[in-house]
Amino acid sequence: MSPIVEVEAVCKRFGMASVLEGVSFQVRAGSVVAIIGRSGSGKSTALRCINRLETIDSGRMRVCGHDLRSPALDVNRLHRDVGIVFQSYNLFPHLTAEENVMLAPRLVLRLPRTEQRELAAHVLSQVGLADKARSYPSQLSGGQQQRVAIARSLAMTPKLMLFDEITSALDPELTGEVLKVIEGLARDGMSMILVTHEMAFARQVADHVIFMHRGKVWEEGPAAMLDAPLTDELRQFLGKTVSEAAPLLHHPKETADEPPFHTIEGRAGACHHRRDDQRSRRPARRRQGREEDPHRHRPGRAPVRHDRRTDETHRL
Ligand SMILES: Nc1ncnc2c1ncn2[C@@H]1O[C@H](COP(=O)(O)OP(=O)(O)OP(=O)(O)O)[C@@H](O)[C@H]1O
Ligand SMILES: [Mg+2]
Repeated sequence: MSPIVEVEAVCKRFGMASVLEGVSFQVRAGSVVAIIGRSGSGKSTALRCINRLETIDSGRMRVCGHDLRSPALDVNRLHRDVGIVFQSYNLFPHLTAEENVMLAPRLVLRLPRTEQRELAAHVLSQVGLADKARSYPSQLSGGQQQRVAIARSLAMTPKLMLFDEITSALDPELTGEVLKVIEGLARDGMSMILVTHEMAFARQVADHVIFMHRGKVWEEGPAAMLDAPLTDELRQFLGKTVSEAAPLLHHPKETADEPPFHTIEGRAGACHHRRDDQRSRRPARRRQGREEDPHRHRPGRAPVRHDRRTDETHRL
């Protein structure tokens, strides 16, 4: 089956600033991809381009069968196929949870009222809020409001969901309830791309992790790569983001018949590394902040291939 998202050599500039520099990756239908990286590395821009909230300057993007650079692109259809949820929930304060969820099915899908109601009841129960249908946003916690925002997207029956740091504004206990909803969607086979700073969660739920650095896909691979980063940049990033208290959860989706690939992409090119090792159980370190550290980047370095079996590193 062809991937649900194909991103190929995508470049994006804002004025003089080059924000995405030849970004390529794919998302298989039914899989969960986590995008991680420092603040300003281009994660949200990549996500926004996938939903055509931003246009790309060059490269190719194919999302749910839509060619994003085609003059014939139907953006409304794309937005039906691809849901996006942001950190801020943006619920209408004067509408109940149910009415917030019913809005798009009414205005866009033009469903009759009974069907709108049934749909709202279904998606609100999917996010564990069946009993809050008649509550207004001001009567809900942050986590509950975020779950209504997720339900609102689900009501459009998207083929792909994008989540941009949807838990960063929440207290830890509220974060857990939102992440549980995402886990449930993953179990149901929803294709998802999530930008997250929750490394323990990325380990637990993601089939594939993409580490972005300075507008590039710097390193990517199965979630196990978070336990054995190959580049200094990822190592440094993880040192700054992984919570000491976070358990190193076993990645549930790795299968023996699909040996994971681990890719490094540096300024000078790319290389692939097939991993046949077991994940290490290094203790994780405490999250210390997300600021960019320009001194960690070494432009122009040669790409490397690390063969774990012989423990040799080859310069290409
Ligand atoms: N609309 C815009 N106009 C101009 N510059 C922008 C715009 N959106 C993003 N940028 C710039 O592009 C770069 C990447 O931004 P982006 O929001 O993609 O980063 P990010 O990785 O999501 O960061 P964070 O973790 O802080 O959310 C930043 O330098 C940002 O200032
Ligand atoms: Mg962002």
